[in-house]
Amino acid sequence: MGFKQKLVDQVRKPSGRLGKIIAKGMNKGHAKLAAWGLSHVKIDPNDKILDIGCGGGGNIERYAKMILNGKIFGIDYSRTAVNVSTEINKRYIIQGIVEISQGSVSSLPFPDDFFNLVSGFEAYYFWPDLTRDLREIYRILKPNGHFILVNEGYKCNNQKRRKGAEKWSKLGNFPIHTPEEYKEFLEQAGFSNIQIFEEYNKGWITAISMKKL
Ligand SMILES: C[S@@+](CC[C@H](N)C(=O)[O-])C[C@H]1O[C@@H](n2cnc3c(N)ncnc32)[C@H](O)[C@@H]1O
Repeated sequence: MGFKQKLVDQVRKPSGRLGKIIAKGMNKGHAKLAAWGLSHVKIDPNDKILDIGCGGGGNIERYAKMILNGKIFGIDYSRTAVNVSTEINKRYIIQGIVEISQGSVSSLPFPDDFFNLVSGFEAYYFWPDLTRDLREIYRILKPNGHFILVNEGYKCNNQKRRKGAEKWSKLGNFPIHTPEEYKEFLEQAGFSNIQIFEEYNKGWITAISMKKL
């Protein structure tokens, strides 16, 4: 197996020693993208937030620094990713601010109407049944709660970036979408008030949507 194939497999589901390195590397590699994505959403210090496909836990740490009386949850189906996230966020876990568990987006272990904000950074590409999985996210969001998707690979107008994204999507056998398609799949799952933000030069996209009252 070639290096790029190995890399894309590890990004899809980090495992073992290499997976640990990749999960930590994604924390660094995705930091600017995540900060840009989150600049479009308002976070209240009392919010309950879930990060799906939390990888190395960098975004959990980012959220934990923003809240006072809220709580941050992280979930990932990779045991290696959960271990790295737990290590990175140890002090917040001890303080009772953060909880991280192993599980799939398709069956989230949370009650209905629970979260103010749910996020997925560089994650949705790998979800097994996008519409069904988005409906599962809709279920656990509070009415008026927000869902944010932040990605660096999409079908953008910047042709150089688009070609790069298409190459990875082919190699990893995962879908990428146009901004219009983001609107369609979010609407199909029940979300409304959809806002799309694009960073042309980098080829980044953020989609923010809401669960209706
Ligand atoms: C590309 S990584 C992104 C990690 C992190 N969000 C970041 O931005 O650095 C995708 C993560 O999603 C996780 N993942 C993929 N499919 C999943 C699923 N069906 N349920 C839960 N986690 C999943 C992978 O294990 C991996 O840690």
